[in-house]
Amino acid sequence: MDIVALRYQSGFGNEFATEALAGALPVGQNSPQKTPYGLYAEQLSGTAFTAPRGANRRSWLYRIRPAAVHRPFKRSDNGRITHRFDDVEATPNQLRWDPLPIPAEPQDFVQGLVTMAGNGDPGSQSGCGIHLYAANRSMEDRYFYSADGEMLIVLQHGRLRFDTELGAIEAEPQEIVVIPRGVRFRVELLDRDAGGYVCENYGALFRLPDLGPIGSNGLANPRDFQTPTAAYEDRSGSFELVAKFMGNLWSAEIGHSPLDVVAWHGTYAPYKYDLRRFNAIGSISYDHPDPSIFLVLQSMSDTPGVDTIDFVVFPPRILAMQHTFRPPWFHRNVASEFMGLIHGAYDAKAEGFLPGGASLHNCMSGHGPDAQTFERAAGADLSKPDYIKDTMAFMFETRCIIRPSRHALESSQLQAEYFHCWQGLKKHFDPQKR
Ligand SMILES: [Fe+2]
Repeated sequence: MDIVALRYQSGFGNEFATEALAGALPVGQNSPQKTPYGLYAEQLSGTAFTAPRGANRRSWLYRIRPAAVHRPFKRSDNGRITHRFDDVEATPNQLRWDPLPIPAEPQDFVQGLVTMAGNGDPGSQSGCGIHLYAANRSMEDRYFYSADGEMLIVLQHGRLRFDTELGAIEAEPQEIVVIPRGVRFRVELLDRDAGGYVCENYGALFRLPDLGPIGSNGLANPRDFQTPTAAYEDRSGSFELVAKFMGNLWSAEIGHSPLDVVAWHGTYAPYKYDLRRFNAIGSISYDHPDPSIFLVLQSMSDTPGVDTIDFVVFPPRILAMQHTFRPPWFHRNVASEFMGLIHGAYDAKAEGFLPGGASLHNCMSGHGPDAQTFERAAGADLSKPDYIKDTMAFMFETRCIIRPSRHALESSQLQAEYFHCWQGLKKHFDPQKR
């Protein structure tokens, strides 16, 4: 492929400025009458024009042809993508799935998307779609964008290269990539196959949480977010541009590569983050803090303190709390939790929650450690810390019910016997023995 540059700029939401050709960025103004190298100027806005300065995201792109140049879109097959979250009844049952199998037929990143669950709808720009992906071929002459939401991609296996309008990102498992709403991109596989998770956020853009009493450092640090520098393709041919719009896929012919941005500046851009850099902060005295302590990114709602989506990670860490049941205790939440396991084992489950698998515990559905984990932790020697080494789990937690898709409920990966993991929890109560 023609995009060769692979350089990054550090920071989250910064005002970046980058050019693949020296002098391609206009100086002192955004939309001059004539731009260097005969490029077109185009603004890409990811927030309302009038959003407060700190939350405002927009970039100016200087490109070979404007994004408007393509043939009309026609509806195409949605594959296993859906935005109909009322298609089947949501269930209060605890749900868990085995990993998606490697596809038997060749399929690229977009063809390999499977909607597992979601809420809200893209038309009202609220809620999210939760997808898995499994791919075994690169997108070559196809480009994609979602007008429905920004895509938070959690790589579970297989390295991927994202060639985007704003530059190239290479990522590996245990890293996440966020592609903003509307940004066009192509996904290339760097290994034989690839799989992982996607949260398509229909609502307010993901941001870093405020840190309050934690102070000015900790959790995900802004400098560890990497945004690509400008890189472009000057490529003519017969290509396909796939748009995701109002939950459906649309396809248009395009006679050139849409990845033709030679220079750009602004605050609206893709980024990646290595989850292994997360600075976990926890209890060093007693008791188990709420999982909000592991918040990486949040999509805020209009209600202060209540996020629409939280992206939370459970990284390697040391548990040293005294007089404390160290795994997560049993709980029920007003929020709903979709979890995935990227690497290793998860400390609240002895078995059954596999890397690449997923679980869903909806609003007020009881869950927590399985019987085996309970017995082990209840009798554990607390004089020494527990080193939770080989793990990386995450959670998409949303304020609204996460409604499983028909595919998710009818899938052969659904573990019908999941509820058994709690049936072995014994009665220990004895009124005679305090
Ligand atoms: Fe939970």
